[in-house]
Amino acid sequence: MAHELNQPLMTLSNFALAAKSIASREQQPLLASALDDIVTQAQRASDIVRRIRSLINTRRGTYESCDIHSVLNDALTMLRPELQRQKTHTRMQLTENLPQLRGDPVLLRQVLFNLVQNAMQAMQDLPPAQRVIDIISFRIESSILVQVGDHGPGIPEAMQEKFF
Ligand SMILES: Nc1ncnc2c1ncn2[C@@H]1O[C@H](COP(=O)(O)OP(=O)(O)OP(=O)(O)O)[C@@H](O)[C@H]1O
Ligand SMILES: [Mg+2]
Repeated sequence: MAHELNQPLMTLSNFALAAKSIASREQQPLLASALDDIVTQAQRASDIVRRIRSLINTRRGTYESCDIHSVLNDALTMLRPELQRQKTHTRMQLTENLPQLRGDPVLLRQVLFNLVQNAMQAMQDLPPAQRVIDIISFRIESSILVQVGDHGPGIPEAMQEKFF
């Protein structure tokens, strides 16, 4: 299944690359940059598929030493175009010099990506000035915590038990 998914993803990325070279030749910078986004996202999807496959095959992720802020930064970079479109700002309060942690950076990035995307989606109906996502990192004993807060309506009580 991972192979089956990876193939169309690579094809998608190749088509987008080909289309991008046409767009650049025709001097269509907006189109070229949208096509760049498609390439990045297709690459990301295929990364995720690969990681999930390695989780299933070996029952463990690829644990490595990683810096939570650079993982967070990668997630935000991927969301930047969408954040701009949705007129949503991020407000960061990051603790400096946090220790490295052991984990799978791709899966961690996916979690942070989802939390920030959820926060953004939860504020779609607010006036743009109120669309602010607060991201805080801090350390408690041997754990590193990252909080992602929004000013949306919150999670309905009926749904809360499904969250972990
Ligand atoms: N910050 C939030 N505020 C309000 N509701 C939220 C928030 N985060 C999640 N939810 C609710 O929980 C649901 C499940 O979130 P989850 O990230 O698992 O899936 P999704 O965002 O709907 O889909 P996907 O993440 O696959 O795009 C959301 O659809 C939304 O209704
Ligand atoms: Mg989500």
